[in-house]
Amino acid sequence: MCQWKKPKITLSPSLFHDRHMDIEIADVNIQLLDRLCEIENQCFDQEAFTKQQLACLISDYNTIGLTALVNGEIAGFALARVNIRRNVTFGHILTIDVAPAYRRKGIAQKLLHEIETILRERDIKECRLEVRENNAAALNLYQKLGYTKIGKLEKYYGTAHGLYLKKSLQ
Ligand SMILES: CC(C)(COP(=O)(O)OP(=O)(O)OC[C@H]1O[C@@H](n2cnc3c(N)ncnc32)[C@H](O)[C@@H]1OP(=O)(O)O)[C@@H](O)C(=O)NCCC(=O)NCCS
Repeated sequence: MCQWKKPKITLSPSLFHDRHMDIEIADVNIQLLDRLCEIENQCFDQEAFTKQQLACLISDYNTIGLTALVNGEIAGFALARVNIRRNVTFGHILTIDVAPAYRRKGIAQKLLHEIETILRERDIKECRLEVRENNAAALNLYQKLGYTKIGKLEKYYGTAHGLYLKKSLQ
C-alpha cells in the first residue's frame, strides 16, 4: 500500500476559504506528518493511528486527506478512502481529528463537508464510518450532518462497542 504515490487533490483556495472563521481547507501531504501525528495522539488514546500508519494512509493513492488551517496553523484533519463492498462503492471516513484548542469552531463540520463534496465529484453516492457508541461529540456531529445508524459493532473498540453510520450523498 505504501509504495503508491498519491495524486494531488486540486483544491481552489478561494472556494474553500471561510472568511468568517478563517478556516482554510487544504490537501494533506507527508511533510505535515509530525503535526498530524501530534493531533491524532491528542484525539485518541489506544486507538490512535501510529505515525507509520498515518504515513501509509497519507501516501496511499486511494486516500482523500484534508487538513484544516486556522490562521495558517493546522487545527485538524480528516482521512477517507473509497471502498467497495458487495458491489456498493462508498466513501469511508477513516478518521476526523480536531486539536482540542480548536474545537467547537465548525472545523470538523467543514472537513466532512469538503470530503463529501470530493466524493460526490467522484460520483460516490454514499459515505460510511464507524464511531464509538459513547463518543457524544462525534455522534452529535454526524447526526447534525445527516448520518444515520445502520448497525452496531460489538466490541469493535476492544471492550467498547461501535456504531456503523451512513449518509446518502445523492
Ligand atoms: C468530534 C470532533 C471531531 C468534533 O470536532 P469540532 O471541530 O469540535 O466539531 P464542530 O465544531 O464542527 O461541531 C459540529 C457539531 O458537532 C457537535 N459537537 C461537536 N463537539 C461536541 C461536543 N463536545 N459535545 C456535543 N456536541 C458536539 C455539535 O452538534 C456541533 O454543532 P454545534 O457547535 O452547532 O452545536 C472533535 O471533538 C474531536 O476531534 N474529537 C476527538 C476525535 C474523535 O472523536 N473523532 C471522531 C471519531 S469517529
